[in-house]
Amino acid sequence: MTKDSAQPIYLADYTPPAFWVDRVELTFRLHPTATRVLSRVAFRPNPDAPGPFTLHGQDLTLIRATIDGNEVTPTLTDDGLTCPAPDAPFVWEAEVEINPEANKALEGLYMSNGMYCTQCEAEGFRKITYYPDRPDVMAPFIVRIESDLPVLLSNGNPAAAGEGWAEWDDPWPKPAYLFALVAGDLHAHRDSFTTASGKPVDLAIWVRDGDQDKCAFGMAALKASMAWDERVYGREYDLDVFNIVAVDDFNAGAMENKGLNVFNSAAVLASPETATDANFERIESIIAHEYFHNWTGNRITCRDWFQLCLKEGLTVYRDQQFTKDVRSEPVKRIDDVLMLRGAQFREDGGPLAHPVRPESFVEINNFYTATVYDKGAEVIGMLHRLVGDATYARALDLYFDRHDGQACTIEDWLKVFEDVSGRDLTQFKLWYSIAGTPHVKVTDTWADGSYTLTFQQSVPDTPGQTDKPPMVIPIAVGLLDTDGTEVVPTRVLELTEARQNFAFDGLATRPVPSILRGFSAPVILEQTVPAEHKRLLLAHDTDPFNRWEAGRALARQALLAMLTDRAAPDPAYLEALQALLADDSLDPAFRALVLRLPSQQDLTQALFDAGQVPDPLAIHDALTAMETAMATHLQADLTASFDAHQVPGPYRPVAADAGKRALANGALALLTRTDAGARAKVQYSDAANMTQQMAALSALQRIGAASDALEHFHSQWQHERLVLDKWFGLQSSLSLPAEAVATVRRLTEHPDFTWENPNRFRAVFGGFSSNLAGFHDPSGDGYALMADWLIRLDRLNPMTTARMTTAFGTWKQYDADRQALMRDALERIALVPVLSRDTKEMVTRILA
Ligand code: PHE
Ligand code: ZN
Repeated sequence: MTKDSAQPIYLADYTPPAFWVDRVELTFRLHPTATRVLSRVAFRPNPDAPGPFTLHGQDLTLIRATIDGNEVTPTLTDDGLTCPAPDAPFVWEAEVEINPEANKALEGLYMSNGMYCTQCEAEGFRKITYYPDRPDVMAPFIVRIESDLPVLLSNGNPAAAGEGWAEWDDPWPKPAYLFALVAGDLHAHRDSFTTASGKPVDLAIWVRDGDQDKCAFGMAALKASMAWDERVYGREYDLDVFNIVAVDDFNAGAMENKGLNVFNSAAVLASPETATDANFERIESIIAHEYFHNWTGNRITCRDWFQLCLKEGLTVYRDQQFTKDVRSEPVKRIDDVLMLRGAQFREDGGPLAHPVRPESFVEINNFYTATVYDKGAEVIGMLHRLVGDATYARALDLYFDRHDGQACTIEDWLKVFEDVSGRDLTQFKLWYSIAGTPHVKVTDTWADGSYTLTFQQSVPDTPGQTDKPPMVIPIAVGLLDTDGTEVVPTRVLELTEARQNFAFDGLATRPVPSILRGFSAPVILEQTVPAEHKRLLLAHDTDPFNRWEAGRALARQALLAMLTDRAAPDPAYLEALQALLADDSLDPAFRALVLRLPSQQDLTQALFDAGQVPDPLAIHDALTAMETAMATHLQADLTASFDAHQVPGPYRPVAADAGKRALANGALALLTRTDAGARAKVQYSDAANMTQQMAALSALQRIGAASDALEHFHSQWQHERLVLDKWFGLQSSLSLPAEAVATVRRLTEHPDFTWENPNRFRAVFGGFSSNLAGFHDPSGDGYALMADWLIRLDRLNPMTTARMTTAFGTWKQYDADRQALMRDALERIALVPVLSRDTKEMVTRILA
């Protein structure tokens, strides 16, 4: 495989490395444009897989190389080098030169605001030096950094330091993708943690001057994560120090480098004035995620990149469990399902569908997807549900025991569960290889006191896959009577056949079923539920997820009726909401979720599934009309809710307060539909924290009345780059349809649009692509603008560009005119002569 080649590589072609590495020593002589990297690597031939000695390398200038001290002249190849080597252990030494300042792709060693930083996952280490850059080659690393900068960091424990240099020693064998180096004028927010066995760990969050006041929350989250992983998974931390660095230019959220996590500053920095409740919660979960990788990812890593879900699915599952524990379980479950449906179902139902464990790829960067991460986590959740808590815990213990220090596969993972549970997981394993969201259709019958549920499952065709076998689907079911009393508590049915019956006997009357409780499997449930049953479930289901789901179904049904039959907003839906809103026994955060209407994306999908052509403008208008109806009919209740859930006193980023603010701000957004922004304007000027300020600003923007506030917001926050991202994102995502394209164009001309920064670029264009009625403007101007900028960014940053092409991923759902315009935009990108491999692969798949 070469970096420029568009040839796919295949899981089936995996071969072990021809050489193992016993030890790595690196010296960095840092210079912005001419950094020298000296490597000294102890290799040992792999008797099980003899082959030539080859190393990966990209954009490197080789200065000299030796083997056992003797100068060698390697042959440079498209993706590295090859060189004759002894058939016995030997030491390779090389010196290379690299240019961090010119590196705008943000992979390898690069510069961000004067600091040096690395990103090596997945294949960035080869841009630092020649090395077997594959995750199954693990070695201890010793690193020396030479630079005048005051703070010099790398993986592992600090070993020695002096004027202008520092040495680090990472004793835990690791693959190169977990390597990290940071150097800069940084300030530490310090703390410490004592592990369960009494080992002290020095903790630090390193930031630029001026950001010291935004670290306390991240630090608390880190300590909570460390304690949680000990308590729940029995996993202790294994080094003397744990460092986190905040960097402004970063392609993803954060990176789990051993002992030296690197974070997008947006994923760690927070103060009440600059971050919203949602930001705080996201930061907490990302800190947990990266920390949890220390065991699921670092101590046990992936054999090859096809196994990415081995670490990502499991680590997402673990961070979801953590958030459920420290916040609200039902609210977190609903949030996660919203994400899953919004991103993963969308991906799984279109041209980019792929299995949780892909079997081929051109560019691995394109597979850090919702499917690998979020469906990967759902698959683990199903496994947990099928084997039960005790067996899950024993399986994880065995996994850590058996595979510590290894690079593993999904087969290794499933074998652990088979050994512990005695179950045959052959059919379950299909979840890793079959793409597409299964549809489960359910019907019921009632006869002689026996109630029977009949399930039929099928998985739609996806690119390269047809005629799929039935999967194992855990379906949690409970039954209610028609008064709303639960008559059969939750039971997990295991659907394994294409069609299968489950009978419930001994019931007095025909029950109302509550199916797929807790969203027990990532499937699309098809059932015909009479509206009165939905209302009953919304009012009485003991399962909070299905309670919310019933409200969601009512909302969707009402909105679809408005869209397809020009119906008025369903008064029965509004009444059901009214009762719920006033029910103070319910968590405000839960009520806030029930109040939230399905997204534009959700309705687009619903119409498409119903065989209709979605019209983004009509969808936008229907949502606006429904919100206006809610504001009108529920005015008293919304006002009461708004007033009752104001949180007095200083801001605290705790779940209870955040839930109240979410409910009050949900009410505010609706009330703004009919009060010309009166309340929102007051809240905007009184706001003492970013949650309140942003909620007010968004509410105003949604009715097109935010111009004064936007101007004020910009002047207030022009020096806080993370807040400025919000200013950009809010306008691109919430501008009214008729103004959106012009607004986005204006934003791109703004002096603060520093487009080479991924956060800023994503704020504008990620926001725009979520503004469906704006992006899909019938003129096609939105598509053209997006394409222009993707083409421009691709020259610098392929990884971020490629990800953002997914804005076009649903193009086949639209009318012929829009399809033609989107195809034009995609083809224009595809035809760029020097398009990156990343973007080329994405555009090709989307167009296929
Ligand atoms: N491994 C990181 C995570 O999920 C994500 C990441 C991938 C970051 C690639 C940067 C580049 O925790
Ligand atoms: Zn991860």
